[in-house]
Amino acid sequence: MSSVIRGLGYVVVDSADLDAWESFATDIFGMAVSERTDDLLRLRIDDKCYRIEIRKADTDGVNTIGWEVAGAAQLEEVAARLEALGYAVKREDPKIAYAERLVSGLIAFDDPDGTRVEVFWGFKEDKSVFVSPTGARFVTGSGGMGHIFQLVTDDKAFEKLYFDGLGFKFSDYIDFGPVAATFTHCNPRHHSMAFAAVPGVPAGLGHIMLEVDDIDVVGRAYHKVFEEKKAPLAMTLGRHSNDDMISFYTRTPSGFQIEFGTGGLLIDDSEWLPPRFDVPSFWGHVRVNPAEADVLDT
Ligand SMILES: [Fe+2]
Repeated sequence: MSSVIRGLGYVVVDSADLDAWESFATDIFGMAVSERTDDLLRLRIDDKCYRIEIRKADTDGVNTIGWEVAGAAQLEEVAARLEALGYAVKREDPKIAYAERLVSGLIAFDDPDGTRVEVFWGFKEDKSVFVSPTGARFVTGSGGMGHIFQLVTDDKAFEKLYFDGLGFKFSDYIDFGPVAATFTHCNPRHHSMAFAAVPGVPAGLGHIMLEVDDIDVVGRAYHKVFEEKKAPLAMTLGRHSNDDMISFYTRTPSGFQIEFGTGGLLIDDSEWLPPRFDVPSFWGHVRVNPAEADVLDT
């Protein structure tokens, strides 16, 4: 059984350095460039025209998160649910939605921390076959492009938004001392959205997770980061407790992190009983810089 939201569709990132992003995304992770201008870099990982869009800006960070629904009726259903919760929802002109995002319909609102969230349907596919420069095969499809982990100021407000507004389901909690991170799903992927309110840590997107189907693709990417130092390693290779993902974390040119992994758990809602964990990982995932408190991850 799926939620009205079907998966993470795209992420839009602001960055001052598109060249750094291009080599980071293609050389380490095997994403493919689908569009590149002086002001724009679009990255493919599957049949969709892009999944990550980097826009030239003076600041660095995630600008927009895009969630996919099945059609116009579901888009309006989400809009009504959000408005019932008090969110100001902008219904975008379909022509603008297609011109700017390559989608057929789109609504937008700001989450409780002010991050722009879009909900859309009808995502344009690229007529050419996706060819990864590293031979990576990304796990997307019914699980969406991956998951995100967001540091928030009020986790109860985000539970209200994601459960009541967007129809996500609870996956489980991981306790990090006094802080419980909440993991939620909207398709079989164990979580598409996770969040935690950590005192003293500013709100913002912690990481985006991309999954591939081969541990050797993860290992070769890890070698480029760990051995060849092509990007800053944030957490070493490890296996997460709740979604079983074997992954590592590296810092993007925009400051937030990418988790790159394989073997993520799938949830069957008809038999799922949420567990609870007091560790994020069974082994590994050692934080390279212990002072970084922004990586309560899985
Ligand atoms: Fe993660």
